[in-house]
Amino acid sequence: MSNILVLHGPNLNLLGLREPGVYGAVTLAEINAALEAAAQMHRVSLRIVQSNHEGVLVDTIHAALGWANGILINPGALTHYSYALRDAVAAVALPTVEVHLSNIHAREAFRHLSVIAPVCRGQICGFGQMSYLLGLQALVNLL
Ligand code: DQA
Repeated sequence: MSNILVLHGPNLNLLGLREPGVYGAVTLAEINAALEAAAQMHRVSLRIVQSNHEGVLVDTIHAALGWANGILINPGALTHYSYALRDAVAAVALPTVEVHLSNIHAREAFRHLSVIAPVCRGQICGFGQMSYLLGLQALVNLL
């Protein structure tokens, strides 16, 4: 059975309350429950981590070496500037899919760039919670 690390970056713990006009009403707990249900269907096992701290995300990616077969990541705002997170993804060389609830390319200019995407297998954005489910499906197909 494949093991997948699901990583949620800064401020995603506030989904449901946070800018509902942009991110919708769905909570992180609901997204995680939908991912767990999809994982059961795909017969993969998930470890889900949310952190507001860049270093914790980097440490969690390092710790995935040895047990995880792939990574599904929504890096939040770190998407746009965290070379540390990008280097961590590149270092472990696990197939990684980047996802976003919102369409980052249709928002403020600073969100158009992802420094993480070039070290990922692909990026899915703009479909709300469905971005995560599509990302998981893409990762399962890669493994
Ligand atoms: C986000 C998009 C980022 O620009 C933003 O900083 C987030 C959420 C998304 O899922 O749409 O925190 O990653």
